[in-house]
Amino acid sequence: MFEIIPSPRPVGAEVRGLDLSEPLDAATVARVRDTLSKHGVLYFRNQQLTPTRQVAYLEQFGTMQPYDPKAPFRLEEARDVLVLSNAYEQGKPVGIIEAGQYWHSDLSYRPDPPLYAGLFAVEVPHDDAGRSLGGTMFVGTAHAYDTLSPELKARVEGRTALHDRDKRRFSATRRTQPNEFDGASQTQAQPIVRVHPVTGRRGLYVNQTYTAAITGMDPEESDALLEALYQHLYRQEVRFTHQWQVGDLLMWDDCAVQHHAINDYQLPQRRLIHRAVLEGSKPFGVTRAETVQA
Ligand code: OGA
Ligand code: MN
Repeated sequence: MFEIIPSPRPVGAEVRGLDLSEPLDAATVARVRDTLSKHGVLYFRNQQLTPTRQVAYLEQFGTMQPYDPKAPFRLEEARDVLVLSNAYEQGKPVGIIEAGQYWHSDLSYRPDPPLYAGLFAVEVPHDDAGRSLGGTMFVGTAHAYDTLSPELKARVEGRTALHDRDKRRFSATRRTQPNEFDGASQTQAQPIVRVHPVTGRRGLYVNQTYTAAITGMDPEESDALLEALYQHLYRQEVRFTHQWQVGDLLMWDDCAVQHHAINDYQLPQRRLIHRAVLEGSKPFGVTRAETVQA
């Protein structure tokens, strides 16, 4: 058994009493999965995870999503683990610098974005008073949907939005429909109200980093509606900030939360994180969920 300490915010909980370097029994895996579904993001302090053990832990919940074979900063000993870091060694960066510094859900411009991410903290920056820097903020997509005004709910119902890996370039064209070039540029229409594949809860699935436009809507109206949704999603009072410590394993559900790295540190303060993700499935909206339940 383990202990769950929920944050005072709509998402986030600490899990105590588990050693993630050992295999978990099936009941514990199921309970961690339920806890993650409920809280959206979980942290486990004081873990000792080599990259191989980190992968072994995550594989209890699904299939690793391999990185592009040509992607830099993957570890030799665990190719599905990527390094995020601001550090340089012999003049070369040791990891991806400045990853995720705006609100987003990972790879939402792909047809099948990841299910969970699992990050392990190797080095964490701190200020002179010893306070941890380089935190990661989270908001809950289901709480955001539940608390949305009836008027905004009605405006997004049944609609999709276009997500693009390079949103700014896409937005500059003022397009609100996909076109034949989108295969190469990675554009994907996603339901604005996404139904969680495990819990069936509805969540808001548009984000500041990748959502370029609401499909088929007048561009000005689309910009204004997206802005209203972001104002609601990213309100200060619903944010949970994870303050990293070395040895943390942080796990989030990319359907249930959006996240944002805080860039409040600099060298010589080093941050180094080992990141791996699990394969997800194609997002679906309310209509299909209703069909499935019928
Ligand atoms: C990510 C990401 C944020 C962080 O790994 O997908 O956005 O705080 N990371 O490192
Ligand atoms: Mn991310």
